[in-house]
Amino acid sequence: MADKAFKYVILGGGVAAGYAAREFANQGVNLGELAIISKETVAPYERPALSKAYLFPEGTARLPGFHVCVGSGGERLLPEWYTEKGISLILNTEVVKADLASKTLISATGETFKYQILIIATGSTVIRLSDFGVKGADATNIFYLREIDDADKLVEAIKAKKNGKALVVGGGYIGLELSAALKINNIDVSMVYPEPWCMPRLFTADLASFYESYYANKGIKIIKGTVATGFGTNEDMEVMDVKLKDGRVMEADIVVVGVGGRPMTKLFKGQIEEEKGGIKTDGFFKTSVPDVYAVGDVATFPMKLYDEMRRVEHVDHARKSAEQAVKAIFAREQGNSIDEYDYLPYFYSRAFDLSWQFYGDNVGETVFFGDGSPTSPNHKFGSYWIKDGKVVGAFLEGGTPEENKAIAKVARVQPPALSLDLLATEGLTFACKI
Ligand code: FDA
Ligand code: NAD
Repeated sequence: MADKAFKYVILGGGVAAGYAAREFANQGVNLGELAIISKETVAPYERPALSKAYLFPEGTARLPGFHVCVGSGGERLLPEWYTEKGISLILNTEVVKADLASKTLISATGETFKYQILIIATGSTVIRLSDFGVKGADATNIFYLREIDDADKLVEAIKAKKNGKALVVGGGYIGLELSAALKINNIDVSMVYPEPWCMPRLFTADLASFYESYYANKGIKIIKGTVATGFGTNEDMEVMDVKLKDGRVMEADIVVVGVGGRPMTKLFKGQIEEEKGGIKTDGFFKTSVPDVYAVGDVATFPMKLYDEMRRVEHVDHARKSAEQAVKAIFAREQGNSIDEYDYLPYFYSRAFDLSWQFYGDNVGETVFFGDGSPTSPNHKFGSYWIKDGKVVGAFLEGGTPEENKAIAKVARVQPPALSLDLLATEGLTFACKI
């Protein structure tokens, strides 16, 4: 097979790839210079839709409705857009070998791709229960959710197991968003997770208490402090029940697992510097290898605001890091310079009629504010994180766009917190004054 050669190659066809492609077009990339190589069969799309409207019984999202860049209010990049811009969208193509020394990528079918400049945008993969040695984890109707094919299989199972029972393993983002989606589909949902409260990597006990009560009021059963250790199956190898470490056995027609992600760096092991589980970059997403950049979930980059190397597994950073890398590539070619990446962490989630946003750093002391009663008609509450006398992080459930902007500003400005009691009393008013 003849080699294909491009000036620029983006490896991966997810969120970061799509936003990078738009920036390449903005910067005036020439026809035929850029290729995106993706193992997915569709053009880059807004991955967050998969755990939300993609699974809804009504108002369902389907492609081409959520191709990038609609998630941030931009133009939707349909497959035709790439053709018009002369960008090669090489889909259904998994790269199985990367040789950074010879600037070569090789696909599973033996195709060879040469590049001058590579952007690694391979994202994350799911951690599997079989990784922990859980028995029977290969039964059918046990689902993970990362790509659109996974979501399609889950949608089929929801239809096939109408009014059935689901067990959701994990109390993080996937656990909370998928439990809500399954419940909306009239499935009887139970959740199981090892920690004392849900989403412990972000939520305080007070915040989690609201979401757990709200979910319980929706009829979702929550089992904490234990894990799944095995699965029972019928003669067709379909899952029937889940054995928990505390001895309980839960009936289940569907199991959804969300026990974390892992950055897809394995192709580059030993060829590139890594840090904190990701590919180490500078503030322009340049890696330790000349002409190789890494963006999105795989990049461990300098978080200027906290003077620390961090990796972020959220969509806002995937979009912004991709744009930064492409701007840096063009600036370098033109002998110009751009500012270093100066990222303010921003995470969000939506489930049922709930919607929260978080900005900044969740370290230090915490102050809860607002009405956190799960039975209030309109829930508006939040939390501040205070470190070294300054407010460094802010979370808000049910905020208006202006209120969310206000908490973002607090996290960026880091105003002094004169008294924790005062912060609790002032609540959102504090943010709105900054
Ligand atoms: P992304 O995972 O988007 O793309 C990686 C791409 O690389 C994929 O197309 C993959 O197939 C491809 N690839 C990998 N290895 C390859 C190989 N060897 N050869 C070819 N192709 C390869 N965040 C948030 O802030 N709010 C939210 O609501 C959500 N919701 C959400 C829901 C679900 C279901 C998931 C899985 C994730 C989220 N996220 C989120 C996280 C967010 O989607 C994530 O951080 C970004 O998609 C990361 O963008 P990347 O482009 O880095 O990876
Ligand atoms: P996560 O890290 O958010 O949550 C993992 C959870 O797994 C933990 O909170 C814990 O409860 C649980 N867990 C760990 N080991 C377990 C075990 N042995 N048994 C049972 N539970 C166990 O990861 P996730 O929810 O799987 O999400 C995967 C990726 O997708 C992450 O990168 C996440 O950022 C991303 N995502 C983000 C959003 C969002 O930002 N709104 C939504 C969906 C997915």
